[in-house]
Amino acid sequence: MKKLLILMMTVIAAVAMLAAGCGGGDKKESAKVFRVGTEPTFAPFEFQEEGSKEYAGFDMDLARAIGKQMGYEKVEIVNMGFDALVPALNAGNVDMVAAGMSITEERQKSVNFSDPYYTSGLIIMVNKDNDTIKSLKDLEGKRIAAQIGTTGDNKARSVANAVVTSFNTNTEAAMELTNKGVDAVINDSPVVGYYLAQGGNKTAKTVGDVMEAEKYGLAMKKGNDQLTADVNKALAELKKNGEYDKLYQKWFGEVSK
Ligand code: ARG
Repeated sequence: MKKLLILMMTVIAAVAMLAAGCGGGDKKESAKVFRVGTEPTFAPFEFQEEGSKEYAGFDMDLARAIGKQMGYEKVEIVNMGFDALVPALNAGNVDMVAAGMSITEERQKSVNFSDPYYTSGLIIMVNKDNDTIKSLKDLEGKRIAAQIGTTGDNKARSVANAVVTSFNTNTEAAMELTNKGVDAVINDSPVVGYYLAQGGNKTAKTVGDVMEAEKYGLAMKKGNDQLTADVNKALAELKKNGEYDKLYQKWFGEVSK
């Protein structure tokens, strides 16, 4: 009886040790998680399909491919406000930002950017029945919506006498236009194009040309040159092995330029 008891205790102790060991293993594994910050109201670059918690889009696929290429076991997407992305990088809460973020001189002061991976530009969206706004000049004194902290927001704020409302999400900015709370939205052209194609064209349209080119870059913490070099290397490898082209084709339906 005593022997049995000792045996049972030994088994329990062994199981407990094993469980603790597993816990340690988990911790080790979490070091192999690559954390990527984004703001997911920016289809087709990052968005959540209705009723889904999954992150879809070109940037999301690209970030996952880059993480894998660099040898990470898991890529975890972290959802936050667009204006919170750079602070999150520099606080060490995420390793990289993949958010259709345009490489600007201003941002280069506070983050490291990868090589550019997509060429974009801003465009104006108005309601279909609007016949008076045809250019940025026509927005003077008008009400404009944009997403907070974006280049579209900056552009809107450069328009003389315009009343600019900065929204946390692009969804809200577009809704405000539909509700006629604003006269125009300024946002990235491929995102506006996608929105219109998904049914937005029932009430809205673009006017004028795409403004000056903006190049998207993946962002890393300022001074994290090793990670930046690794990301650039992974990006170059994905371009070389056809994976980048495959993703480009998947999301834009055309061959990358
Ligand atoms: N390209 C613009 C910028 O850098 C807009 C990016 C918005 N991205 C997003 N995921 N909401 O400011």
